[in-house]
Amino acid sequence: MDTVTSLLDSIAGVGRDEQRGGYTRPVYSAAELDLRAWFVEQAGRRGLDVETDRNGIIWAWWGPPQAGALVTGSHLDSVPGGGAFDGPLGVAAALAAVDELRARGVEPRRSLAVTVFPEEEGSRFGVACLGSRLLTGAIDADKARNLRDADGNTFADVARQNGLDPAHLGADPEALARIGDFVELHVEQGRGLGEDGPAVAVGSSILGHGRWKLGIAGQGNHAGTTLMEDRRDPMVAAAQVILAVRQVAAAQPDARATVGRIQPVPGGTNVIASRVDLWLDVRHPDDAVTARLVETIHGKAQKIAAFEGCTVSLTEESYSGTVYFDPALQRQLENALPGAPVLATGAGHDAGVLAGYVPSGMLFIRNPTGISHSPEEFVEPADADAGSAALADALEALL
Ligand code: GLV
Ligand code: MN
Ligand code: MN
Ligand code: MN
Repeated sequence: MDTVTSLLDSIAGVGRDEQRGGYTRPVYSAAELDLRAWFVEQAGRRGLDVETDRNGIIWAWWGPPQAGALVTGSHLDSVPGGGAFDGPLGVAAALAAVDELRARGVEPRRSLAVTVFPEEEGSRFGVACLGSRLLTGAIDADKARNLRDADGNTFADVARQNGLDPAHLGADPEALARIGDFVELHVEQGRGLGEDGPAVAVGSSILGHGRWKLGIAGQGNHAGTTLMEDRRDPMVAAAQVILAVRQVAAAQPDARATVGRIQPVPGGTNVIASRVDLWLDVRHPDDAVTARLVETIHGKAQKIAAFEGCTVSLTEESYSGTVYFDPALQRQLENALPGAPVLATGAGHDAGVLAGYVPSGMLFIRNPTGISHSPEEFVEPADADAGSAALADALEALL
């Protein structure tokens, strides 16, 4: 029987990022496709029936596909330079949990599916949880089709290249109805589980979060011939905007705001940029506070840009309000895992999107570094095993 660690070891060579460290596995890249093929192979070895739905979500069925099934899974795509566990841990634990349930001789009263969701991180097309948003209709299919990656490819084109029909992307009520309950196991992404306590927690809520693009336009020019007083340099404005983002968030309890990505155009050492795009990630439990924070940042950015002879535009790319997991399912998970602490998370998950439509819940596994979206993310093998056993306990109670 495979352990979670042996499963993760078998994909440890896929999508390594020698430059950044860790893994870079954007959706539908060679690396993520390798992982999808690995999953299909693992499902096949277990005699699970695999299908890919019209939004690219892979379903591996123990029992016939049916409405109201018990569904567990996570994602295989990663952020740039991400860790080994964010996503794959939940997929590997689900496979190991199926093995464990069979070893226990559990006879399911309903079918169980293990799922892999595409583009959970939004690191290629900008919208996190794109697969679950499409499945549920939380994102308009046209908007999704027209999303572009950094090379200018539309999601529609990439979907087509990967065997999907772009015309059939979007809300899939029949597939959604197959989810009677959804449980996602995930590496804990902060310091929520201490060294001495239990290794597994039950999720309670997901912090509201969104992404906005700030485009600062100035005057592209020559680094050597343009006097300092003659410049309209959007990079100088962007630097001040980033400082303002930190200042605004630091003044608001429970707020988090990040600029993790910045793109100067054209991006030459001896070129004053004509434009700088920066992407803003803002999170707070209260949707109204998040909206106010973004408005404040926008106002400051406009003032900064004007002072530098630049202009600024703000575009919302995605937003998810604070999510509380289904109370009945949460209670069932707590009952199945006595003594497990209950934790909220600041990270987004497909379980959070699904929670708006079907009963969803989560389990979190201890991460001793407290670091995630980084190569330093870690899970001890013993904790990974405790995680798959806990998932098996939870699924057994729910099957
Ligand atoms: C996804 O992991 C997110 O929370 O950004
Ligand atoms: Mn994740
Ligand atoms: Mn992540
Ligand atoms: Mn995530």
